[in-house]
Amino acid sequence: MGHETWVLASHNAGKIKEMEQILAPFGVALKSARDLDLPEPDETETTFRGNAALKARAACEATGLPCLADDSGLSVDALGGAPGIYSARWAGEPRDFGRAMQRVQDELADKGASDRTARFVCTIALARPGQEIVFFEGEVAGDIVWPPRGPEGFGYDPIFQPHGHVRTFGEMTATEKRALSHRARALDTMIATEFKP
Ligand code: IMP
Repeated sequence: MGHETWVLASHNAGKIKEMEQILAPFGVALKSARDLDLPEPDETETTFRGNAALKARAACEATGLPCLADDSGLSVDALGGAPGIYSARWAGEPRDFGRAMQRVQDELADKGASDRTARFVCTIALARPGQEIVFFEGEVAGDIVWPPRGPEGFGYDPIFQPHGHVRTFGEMTATEKRALSHRARALDTMIATEFKP
């Protein structure tokens, strides 16, 4: 298998590590926007697809390499899909996901919501020089638990317990999470399409 360099248009260390591990077996060496010192464009779109496309296109124009960008987030059913595309922004500046998780819990409590179902969703955009952007989607359904549990993962992982499991993403190893996660599912679809024999 050949070796190709792709760029992941992200500065999020958690995502970079997950994607690197998944793509390595396919001969893709992933450089991140952080490695290449690329600017982070503002996420000005109103959909996961829009934001993923904007980040992939900007990185592809800057590097001339195939660029991946993902836009992902937590969508809580009783909150009308919030925080959704605002998942990172709910953590404030500097990012504090303790605060973001507390806000999810507080808003569910304020609503007296008994429905605690949620999903992590991920849209990946792949921009190759001179080609149209292609999209791949993945999601995983689960429940919001409180209090947060587990030191692993990142972001909202400690309050998300995938359906059919008794541990949160925060309590799972990277390998266990990779078998289930929205990002892994979106990547699997991409791999099936882009690396078919
Ligand atoms: P993005 O970088 O704009 O895609 O922001 C995604 C945000 O959604 C992250 O900063 C996290 O807050 C949240 N998020 C996305 N994927 C995950 C995950 O796998 N675990 C926990 N939080 C996630």
